[in-house]
Amino acid sequence: MNFANRVTGLEPEGAYVVLAHAQQIEKEGKSVIHLEIGQPDFPTVENVSTAGKRAIDDGLTRYTPSAGLPELRHSIAEDNLSRKGLDITAENVVVGPGAKPSLFFPTLALVNPGDEVIYPNPGFPTYEAMIQVAGGIPVPVPLSEENNFAFDLDAFDKLVNKNTRLIVINSPGNPSGGVFSRSALEHISRVSMEYDAWVLSDEIYSRMVYEGQFLSIASLPGMLERTIICDGFSKTFAMTGWRLGFGIMPVDLAYKVNLLVNHAVGSTAHFTQVAGIEALNGPQVLVDEMLNRYRIRRDLLVSGLNKIPGISCQVPQGAFYAFPNIRSFGKSSQWLANYLLEEAGVALLPGTSFGEFGEGFLRICYAASLENIREALDRMGEKLAQL
Ligand SMILES: Cc1ncc(COP(=O)(O)O)c(C=O)c1O
Repeated sequence: MNFANRVTGLEPEGAYVVLAHAQQIEKEGKSVIHLEIGQPDFPTVENVSTAGKRAIDDGLTRYTPSAGLPELRHSIAEDNLSRKGLDITAENVVVGPGAKPSLFFPTLALVNPGDEVIYPNPGFPTYEAMIQVAGGIPVPVPLSEENNFAFDLDAFDKLVNKNTRLIVINSPGNPSGGVFSRSALEHISRVSMEYDAWVLSDEIYSRMVYEGQFLSIASLPGMLERTIICDGFSKTFAMTGWRLGFGIMPVDLAYKVNLLVNHAVGSTAHFTQVAGIEALNGPQVLVDEMLNRYRIRRDLLVSGLNKIPGISCQVPQGAFYAFPNIRSFGKSSQWLANYLLEEAGVALLPGTSFGEFGEGFLRICYAASLENIREALDRMGEKLAQL
């Protein structure tokens, strides 16, 4: 079959591929510990679920305005004013089913064929997919371990040029849990102004920062007018399956992105949006409690990994991923991830699922029980010792 160029290079997210492989192994009767998929293992925050269920009972099951319910857009604007210091209104907010539309649609609205788009590598696989679909030229910037998995700024400076239309950043980042420093964000903001490029800041893990305060690049002077923030409810409120996210952007761009939502999606489920209003305006204790529990799991996992001969792992500053360095084994990360799944029954991802610069690393999601993390560490230690 012949397909359009825009879809020929597309590949599925690695996590779905490993999940299918792990489920196959489970069908054969073997036990697998799942540390591959990046989603909270906690149930959706209870008051949020209740609000969503009540909305269904109240018949809120029809179309809504495609940019989202005015009350939700307003709550998102207020929340981002108080948490990130962004001077925005509901007009700047476009709601979508998940955060992914706020990556894809602004890219489609801004990038012309031949425009260059800078993005992190290793990075969330959707970045490369959306650049390809838009016809842009993907320009990966390596994230360096020495630099706490923020952009290698020397490499960045060499790659950015007058053809750069968009710079994608993700802090705290998937797959590394790295957080960009204020000085790195200031550097990127200066360069984006110099080359008149847009910045797409994926802030889906902004409520999952373990030390210090989250800083949005959009809050730096002059950046609000050239930044799109992608954010959502999936991780913070354990709502991956509800499909609720949003983009924050200048009003003119929001108008165009809304047209794409209108034609490609229609609108986001009404009851999901009602649940989102409750998530933002209701009590936040469970969100804080989840973060505390992730921190305990992170500490257990990272100290356990560092005790396994051959592995070294930095302490991730955000999100719920560890990204251990496994170069000393002299095997590709794909080989090692397969070995650990098949021999140890531990499902995790090769760093190369996030791009070529992920070689030499594994991604482990620690949104899992302490018991499972302990068991996974024992199994990995035993099987890695046999190499
Ligand atoms: C960095 C990053 N951005 C965006 C998303 C997409 O979030 P959603 O499921 O809300 O579309 C994810 C999900 O894993 C992610 O890790």
